Amino acid sequence: MSIVVLISGRGSNMLAILEAGLPVAAVLSNVPDAAGLALAAQRGVLTRAVSHKEHPSREEFEAALAAEIDRHAPRLVALAGFMRVLSAGFVARYAGRLMNIHPSLLPAFAGLHTHERALAAGVKLHGCTVHFVTAELDHGPIIVQAALPVRPHDDAASLAARVLALEHLVYPRALRWFLDGRLVIEGGIVRVKGNDAQLLYSDRD
Ligand code: GAR
Repeated sequence: MSIVVLISGRGSNMLAILEAGLPVAAVLSNVPDAAGLALAAQRGVLTRAVSHKEHPSREEFEAALAAEIDRHAPRLVALAGFMRVLSAGFVARYAGRLMNIHPSLLPAFAGLHTHERALAAGVKLHGCTVHFVTAELDHGPIIVQAALPVRPHDDAASLAARVLALEHLVYPRALRWFLDGRLVIEGGIVRVKGNDAQLLYSDRD
């Protein structure tokens, strides 16, 4: 019934997952000094680093990462600010039980620097998306989205902070739906049994 969380950095989504009381078996990172690893360890969660720099090829890095994941036999693998592109083979290994959170309303602004790009595009609505991972970067069946209005005086930092607060609400919710067996995918569309809202809209500052 457990989750393995993969991070690369500060780990605030990972902390939100822990604080929601979800069963996290381990937190793994490709960055040995990721701040989030220390935060997880402080909370008594098993942590491991699998550094991509210590593995000469992506295949070897991913094999080492998969071995570390599989030792926990998790039901679900959650990418939480994990900033390595994963191969189609790795994604296939965890098909249907690999989730990601992305800081935009996908399919808009896949990739990096989402808040800067949202501002540059002049969008009036922005947010985040939790989705199942497929081989195509930042695509895959959408589980839940959280949206907020872009304010005239927003900069990338203010927008990022407001989106991050919503990330912390919706990611634990999506993981819980999965563990409770409530997610159904039909024709690439995710539905939540029991009709829980798959859109959160917040116009609070
Ligand atoms: C989050 O905003 C997450 O959505 C984003 O990285 C940040 C990690 O923050 N993920 C991606 O951009 C993945 N494409 P955190 O380490 O504090 O959770």
